Amino acid sequence: MKRHGQKITMLTAYDATMARLLDSAGIDVLLVGDSLGMVVLGEDTTVGVTLDMVVHHSRAVANGTTRALVVADMPFLTYQASVAEAVRNARRLLQDGGATAVKIEGGVAVARTIRRLTDVGVPVMAHIGLVPQSVNKLGGFRPVGKTREEADQLLLDARAVEAAGAFALVLESIPAELAARITHESGVPTIGIGAGPDCDGQVLVSYDALGFFEAFIPRFVKRYAELGEAVKEAARSYIAEVRNGAFPAPEHSISKPAGLTSKSR
Ligand code: KIV
Repeated sequence: MKRHGQKITMLTAYDATMARLLDSAGIDVLLVGDSLGMVVLGEDTTVGVTLDMVVHHSRAVANGTTRALVVADMPFLTYQASVAEAVRNARRLLQDGGATAVKIEGGVAVARTIRRLTDVGVPVMAHIGLVPQSVNKLGGFRPVGKTREEADQLLLDARAVEAAGAFALVLESIPAELAARITHESGVPTIGIGAGPDCDGQVLVSYDALGFFEAFIPRFVKRYAELGEAVKEAARSYIAEVRNGAFPAPEHSISKPAGLTSKSR
């Protein structure tokens, strides 16, 4: 798609029903992001997400998907301790979670791990820039690459993960000009989130894009629907109708068995 100048579309999904809807809408890639810790489980960060959680959600997404590429996030500290542990944990995401590829945060620091995973047959999507798993080191969710040093490091990171065999690269919260340069230099597709229009593709957290997540809206998010409002409105109608007896109506009730009279018990 990069070679043909076709933009790649990616959204997060965490369950089979949403995966089925996004897949049938024509999405190219479904990411079982560790953002599930925040938007599904209500945590403040992704740091507490475990491998078991991602395996669980990945299985559901894989079950709901027939066409899109399913990529599962490797959670924080499931690939840093050793390359062997990274391989063992990637096995769980592909064999138990049904994913086709994994995503790993980091650049030069994880290049050796990416090399080993790709060597043994695990496709790896890399993720640089704002890497949410390192929020405690970054000192908050903030754009990265605005200083010369950070920009130079990101260029090195992008080259390192591509050389190590990553098949694609997520660029999160970095200046648009820097993302354009990385995209131009890179032989593999870049997928941007808060990284401007020149990336080879775009990704958003589906709960943000669909208007489910109301805690905060990052500046780079466009809301394509207000499903949070729609859910509240539907729930209010249900509550009112149950309370006033309008639901269930006769058409929602099971008709009486043949031969049962009103006196029968
Ligand atoms: O976990 C996630 O949803 C992500 C995307 C923001 C790229 O990593």
